[in-house]
Amino acid sequence: MKTLVVYDSVFGNTQKVAETVAQTLGPDAEAKRVMNTSLEDIQNAGLVIFGSPTRAFAPTTEMRGYLKNLSKGVLSGKTVGVFDTRMDVQKINIKILSFLAGVFGYAADTMVKLIARKGAVNIVSNWFFVLESEGPLAEGELERAAEWAGSLQTPE
Ligand SMILES: Cc1cc2nc3c(=O)[nH]c(=O)nc-3n(C[C@H](O)[C@H](O)[C@H](O)COP(=O)(O)O)c2cc1C
Repeated sequence: MKTLVVYDSVFGNTQKVAETVAQTLGPDAEAKRVMNTSLEDIQNAGLVIFGSPTRAFAPTTEMRGYLKNLSKGVLSGKTVGVFDTRMDVQKINIKILSFLAGVFGYAADTMVKLIARKGAVNIVSNWFFVLESEGPLAEGELERAAEWAGSLQTPE
């Protein structure tokens, strides 16, 4: 089964997670930047994983636009993984940020909603922490990403 990891990334952290996920899933898996992903790429994959950084409580403009414009039904019957990268707002301990994150959420929340509108029912989501606003990824997050990738694989 072909696997496609569609990602966006500003500082490279989400890209690292996307590439780790693709590598874990083996030679039939490929990570592609969202701007280079065609509809045919999605149609050809049985497992599709979308990853975006959280920016202002939401996915990047490119990722949001891509998911909004996907043809309805294109994700029906597929397993869809969703992840974002984000800061640990509890650890940063800025009260207003924790409050706003509680209200407005993270990129993965919006992505799950947009994907569900396209007919996907089997959606699994996760997140990975960065330490500062531009990264790097927190210790152990790439290992966790590899474990998560393994859990998305369905027996053929
Ligand atoms: C302009 C900006 C807005 C951000 N907004 C949020 C946010 O709302 N919530 C959060 O947890 N992290 C936020 N972050 C941290 C990003 O999630 C972090 O830059 C991202 O995970 C890095 O991924 P990338 O290297 O793939 O771009 C923000 C960072 C920037 C620069």
